[in-house]
Amino acid sequence: MSKTQYSGVKVKRFSKGFVVAHAVNAISFFALYITALPMYTEWFDWLYPVLGGPEGARRLHRIFAVAFITPTFIWLILEPKGLLRWGKELVTWKKRDLQFFTEFVKELFGFNFKHVKQTFFNAGEKINSIIQIFTAILIIGSGFPMWFPDLFPAAIVQWAYVAHNVGFGLAIAVVVGHIYLSVIHKNSRPGYTGVLTGEVPAEWAKEHYTEWYEEEVKKGNFPDLDKGKNKKKGA
Ligand code: HEM
Repeated sequence: MSKTQYSGVKVKRFSKGFVVAHAVNAISFFALYITALPMYTEWFDWLYPVLGGPEGARRLHRIFAVAFITPTFIWLILEPKGLLRWGKELVTWKKRDLQFFTEFVKELFGFNFKHVKQTFFNAGEKINSIIQIFTAILIIGSGFPMWFPDLFPAAIVQWAYVAHNVGFGLAIAVVVGHIYLSVIHKNSRPGYTGVLTGEVPAEWAKEHYTEWYEEEVKKGNFPDLDKGKNKKKGA
């Protein structure tokens, strides 16, 4: 079962590059949603005065669209190794990743579960990343024909509106799940500091990403928590 008390020892999980890229991604995503709401339905017309009218909303939507494209490049420039590891993990699937989902469902519904050994990203985060990449390609790829309709055939522009809707509809569903699991769900919550400060509680990291944690212990980067426990027991 999961521990709720941690010793206060922190380990480094994410680089500054990732923290910045994640923040730009999250802020621009929500800003895009807010600027798009009155374009989508009259229910949100009350947002127009805040956004500077329809023209202002359109302008802001394009500004945040450009920001939304940058996170991959920010991460690539500031920490190419981290981006490469992410890419590698997304295409690596093992039996334990499937076992993770069985245990995850038990955990979600409050039943007893065991932590299946995971690497840097767990199987759930990998699925989240894959869907987010897919929806981002759909949203950005459709955004350009909408932005520059004169450069594309009329049929492409028409289909772009459909793809834009499918993309942002799917994206918000995944983002809501992602926020619930990372900030609200009690077992994963301690890890949310990782995307703000780069650091997470050591015990939590070991529990959730055991294989990665053990590798870092071997490299001498992280404290060996079991060693500490044995010493305490012997004392
Ligand atoms: C979370 C991300 C996004 C959401 C929720 C979103 C949503 C929307 C919505 C609802 C519309 C109105 C569509 C219509 O009139 O039927 C729209 C229009 C548009 N979107 Fe997005 N969008 C997002 C991201 C992007 C991105 C990344 C780009 C560019 C690469 C982009 C470019 C555009 C353009 C150019 C328009 C046309 C605005 C106009 O009428 O002048 N959007 N978007």
